[in-house]
Amino acid sequence: MPYPLDPSPDDMRAMGEAALAFVVDFLQRRPDAPASAFEGAAETARRFRMPPPEEGNGFSPLIDLVETIAQHSSDNAGPGFLAYIPGGGLYASSLAELLSTTIDRYVNLWGEAPVAAQIENNVVRWLCDLFAYPPESRGVLTSGGSMANFSAIVSARKAKLPENFLTGALYVSEHAHASVMKAAMLAGFPTRNVRIVATDPSLRMDVDALRRQIVDDRGAGLRPFAVVASAGTTNTGAIDPLDDLAGVAADEGLWMHVDAAYGGFFQLTARGRERFRGIERADSITLDPHKGMFLPYGTGALVVRNGRALREAHFVGAAYLQDLAPDADIPNFAEYSAELSRDFRGLRAWFPLWLHGVSAFREALDEKLDLTEALYDGLKSDALLELPWAPDLTVVPFRLRDGDDVANRRLLEAINASKRVFLSSTVIDGRFTIRACILSHRTHRDRIDECIEIVRRAAASVTSG
Ligand SMILES: Cc1ncc(COP(=O)(O)O)c(C=O)c1O
Repeated sequence: MPYPLDPSPDDMRAMGEAALAFVVDFLQRRPDAPASAFEGAAETARRFRMPPPEEGNGFSPLIDLVETIAQHSSDNAGPGFLAYIPGGGLYASSLAELLSTTIDRYVNLWGEAPVAAQIENNVVRWLCDLFAYPPESRGVLTSGGSMANFSAIVSARKAKLPENFLTGALYVSEHAHASVMKAAMLAGFPTRNVRIVATDPSLRMDVDALRRQIVDDRGAGLRPFAVVASAGTTNTGAIDPLDDLAGVAADEGLWMHVDAAYGGFFQLTARGRERFRGIERADSITLDPHKGMFLPYGTGALVVRNGRALREAHFVGAAYLQDLAPDADIPNFAEYSAELSRDFRGLRAWFPLWLHGVSAFREALDEKLDLTEALYDGLKSDALLELPWAPDLTVVPFRLRDGDDVANRRLLEAINASKRVFLSSTVIDGRFTIRACILSHRTHRDRIDECIEIVRRAAASVTSG
């Protein structure tokens, strides 16, 4: 003590064993852990406000720190996390992280570590194949769905608009994820150029309204260039009419991007493929392996039908990179994305695919669809609740049949006070709406049955005053 930057083999082993012991214990404890634990969390956070120490310290306080973080937060690794969009954090990915950050190889320029880039490209190709994309398609693993949407909008802008693009207009529904608006803003568009298209009663983009709006906008001097559809909105999981929207895009010469960050991996299931009919016609698709593949945060993806369009939007050469192998059948991913140095996301995805096989993901996602039906049926049969939208995927929105926003907020608080499930809310048609989203691989039927009981009891208690 203190440890040198490269600790001795014995010290490395001791620290690694302590970390692994924590990991195994932490995962064993998930079913009984509270779904959320915010009491005293902000005060605890303040206790940790400190500069780094000048001299080194022991390892065990760091394990304690991780436990403290876990104990003062919502448990998005647990089976009761039904808020926002659940993630997961597969053990196989944790191991991949340890190993890939240890060898610390460069994946973004293939010649530096061809095997690493090949493995990452296996993942990307698998994603392209999942959507029947042609051989010239390309893709990148991003830090998440937001960055994938950003690269998609930039690609669409480059492919469809002149350098002076400020009249370019893109079309989204009001239920599109905020990252699409952010992407347009970062790509340089005035916010008014993001045109909000009306939705039908199922909260899916209204195709006729889109057609009318495009005509009106052209008349007003705008240049429609892209439509962004959702394959599962965050609010309710609604799937826009993808095939019809692809038809509009083809007729009008627009780039069609599908934000499938939440829903995309349901394409692995027969039900998902049926519901996503037409998605394969999109020019680009955002996917989020840290959602639908249960990977730890930090793994998104973008696939683009015409790989050249992705590269043309991102490639900038540099003299100091002249020694590197040129883009080839294994891509120089840096030429297709906004990033140069970055983590080896491909290994984080490849380990679980290799260890469990694609079928394990298909089965887990099929199970989520079944669980959603069970939750929907279980809540719908309660006369105190209304469920205005049947789920397209795995989001179940609901609210009190006779309750204002204040009562519904109280209902959400009562549900979350159970600590067995953690749900979140949104606003739909101007009304506070609670939503449960089932996408953790650790959520199974027992927790959904428990959730139904908790919601019913809470609804009875809130409405009885
Ligand atoms: C539909 C949709 N698109 C995009 C995003 C943004 O993804 P990320 O949080 O990975 O940046 C989300 C996140 O929940 C989402 O649900």
